[in-house]
Amino acid sequence: MPAIVIVGAQWGDEGKGKATDLLGGRVDYVVKPNGGNNAGHTVVVGGEKYELKLLPAGILSPNVVPIIGNGVVVNLEALFEEIDGLNARGADTSRLLVSANAHLVAPYHQVLDKVTERFLGKRAIGTTGRGIGPAYMDKVARLGIRVQDIFDESILRQKVEGSLRQKNELLVKVYNRRAVDVEEIVEYFLGFAERLAPMVVDSTYVLNKALDEGKVVLMEGGQATFLDVDHGTYPFVTSSNPTAGGSSVGSGIGPTRISRVVGIIKAYTTRVGAGPFPTELFDEMGEYLQKTGGEFGVNTGRPRRCGWYDALLARHASRVNGFTDYFLTKLDVLTGIERIPVCVAYDVDGVRHDEMPMTQTEFHHAKPIFEYFDGWTEDISSAKTIEDLPANAQTYVRALERLSGTRFSAIGVGPDRDQTIVVNDLILD
Ligand code: GDP
Ligand code: IMO
Ligand code: MG
Repeated sequence: MPAIVIVGAQWGDEGKGKATDLLGGRVDYVVKPNGGNNAGHTVVVGGEKYELKLLPAGILSPNVVPIIGNGVVVNLEALFEEIDGLNARGADTSRLLVSANAHLVAPYHQVLDKVTERFLGKRAIGTTGRGIGPAYMDKVARLGIRVQDIFDESILRQKVEGSLRQKNELLVKVYNRRAVDVEEIVEYFLGFAERLAPMVVDSTYVLNKALDEGKVVLMEGGQATFLDVDHGTYPFVTSSNPTAGGSSVGSGIGPTRISRVVGIIKAYTTRVGAGPFPTELFDEMGEYLQKTGGEFGVNTGRPRRCGWYDALLARHASRVNGFTDYFLTKLDVLTGIERIPVCVAYDVDGVRHDEMPMTQTEFHHAKPIFEYFDGWTEDISSAKTIEDLPANAQTYVRALERLSGTRFSAIGVGPDRDQTIVVNDLILD
């Protein structure tokens, strides 16, 4: 049976959590392949709202085995806080598995995240401050601490020592902070070992065996295509690969086992943090989208920057991810807007670009060229088929589909699981 990938197509917060939840009843495993507790996925089940950060949204589906994959950076304090929070609300988290190869976020990663941002000044990225970048830096520098290390105290001590030797120089001499004590960090990690031990597995073995047995595996990407360290708006990106290829690396599921790659895309665009955003609105319409769409970050509470749908982003995301389907979300938020602009090309210093420009400088200079669509005023939040939508909403959706390079297989018309128009089955078709 197939592995299905869910990928954010814009700058995050497209509704990946809702998409996972929608499929949750029909999949057996949900693995998170990248990111950490920088994510924030909201899932609304029967009016109850859940906010997941480090855990995959699949944890809310009763028969799913949720897995934190090898590509994730895990903050153990945040992990257990989230588990306890869900348990207090009656959610069962006992099936959760964690990859032995996943890297750990240490308290010093969070310190480094914050001081680096401060030192960047005007060039700051606007990170979530969760230590994600510094944890991935250590992974690539081969100075990281992995989940498996906390079960071997002497190895753990060696690794913490190795990792801190250089960092303490940096913290004290460059950033004017106090040095971090090796023993303090060793004790910090050891303190989680007993509770974590029963969850730790070779997740690549578990997932591939499940696929061999005909089970359905969903890979729930965090972040999004334009936050990808390779394909995003670098340097205003996160430090992992949220694109489809990254989900293969981050879960140990080979590309040949993936049957569907579903891009989640909003009917408009949002972004949290700094970086270029050609269709961004700075007027009351931006505020309207923010308010009507509830565009405030789950993770940091920051207001999300809002703008119109950008078809160039959609096409670029289709290409670099090899999307088989798009899931368009939040169409209902546009109800009541008289005329809806859609960005179909960029003007870059007087030159028209029909696709993403090659360089960051050009992208920074890109001005949107819009096509305009007539809006609708009818409530669409209980539409079940495309034909239930007002004619203008149908035209809008069809136009986006034509412009975006991938068929639209689902359309969200409200936050609840049931408020979805399913055009093509996302698992079988
Ligand atoms: P994620 O990070 O991609 O999982 O997305 P977030 O949860 O951060 O942000 C998406 C928000 O939109 C959440 O509050 C969802 O409940 C909500 N949402 C998802 N789909 C729809 C939809 O079709 N309509 C409306 N109105 N809200 C939606
Ligand atoms: P979900 O999974 C939106 C953004 C941050 C910042 C940049 C780098 O909910 O879609 P980091 O802390 O990762 O080093 O920050 O990436 N960012 C997100 N924006 N949704 C997310 O996750 C994000 N995760 C990181 O705002 O601009
Ligand atoms: Mg989010």
